[in-house]
Amino acid sequence: MSEFTGRTALVTGAASGIGRAVASRLASAGASVVVADVSGPGAREAAGELADQGWRASAVVVDVTDPASVERAVRHAVDTYGALHLAVNNAGIGGPSLPTGEYDVEDFKRVLDTNLTGVFYSLRYELPAIVAAGGGAVVNMASILSARGFAGSAAYVAAKHGVLGLTRTAALEYAPRGVRVNAVGPGFVDTPLLGDADRGVRDYLVSLHPAGRLGTAAEVAELTAFLLSDRASFVHGSYHLVDGGYAAR
Ligand code: NAI
Repeated sequence: MSEFTGRTALVTGAASGIGRAVASRLASAGASVVVADVSGPGAREAAGELADQGWRASAVVVDVTDPASVERAVRHAVDTYGALHLAVNNAGIGGPSLPTGEYDVEDFKRVLDTNLTGVFYSLRYELPAIVAAGGGAVVNMASILSARGFAGSAAYVAAKHGVLGLTRTAALEYAPRGVRVNAVGPGFVDTPLLGDADRGVRDYLVSLHPAGRLGTAAEVAELTAFLLSDRASFVHGSYHLVDGGYAAR
């Protein structure tokens, strides 16, 4: 028996980067994983890769900015595997880099819709399903930027601060019902989210981390898996960093 045998996990944004690493980490430890992403081909490829290893995984297309789509993804998890026990609300986008006074209003709404409202929609449908399963755990993918500013990233930073508010509130509401809700705050991680950042920008980002490098998706997945596991049975409503020392400065 592996650690997550008998548990079903829904991971949003699981076609790429951190979500993909989390899906793999959970599936390798016995979970049945629903690989949910706005990219259908990406979700199917990621789920196929897990199934090829002999692990249990299925793909579902979800757009976290659409509550009906999120509800369908949660129903897919329950219909496919019988119950939902674990969820990782990870889907997210970066948005443009501009000073607040020049930030496009529509871009601001788009980033908030995905990175904050999308987490609410996910919790909205996951939590009743997890309670119905007899309890479980949720991790919301926050950021080191949930607790500090970052010039040029008003929408992203505001959304990630909001994710902590959602995490703490849901944790208070659902601890008595057997669901632990926590947030993970990665430093900068080498994934497609960083886009085509040029050498100078990358060097600057690396310089923010005393560890002297960016994080890896697998390192974030490791902390996420711990928080979802019974080893974290008294960990509720808190914010855990995996940031190469960024916040220690
Ligand atoms: P990524 O770009 O590699 O993966 C994000 C995934 O989310 C993609 O597969 C994308 O298709 C999916 N996605 C985007 N919009 C979606 C939507 N509306 N509905 C469903 N899926 C959607 O990015 P990465 O780096 O793996 O980011 C994952 C999470 O980690 C995000 O919430 C991000 O803000 C957070 N994070 C990332 C850091 C980094 O430096 N890469 C640092 C701190 C937090």
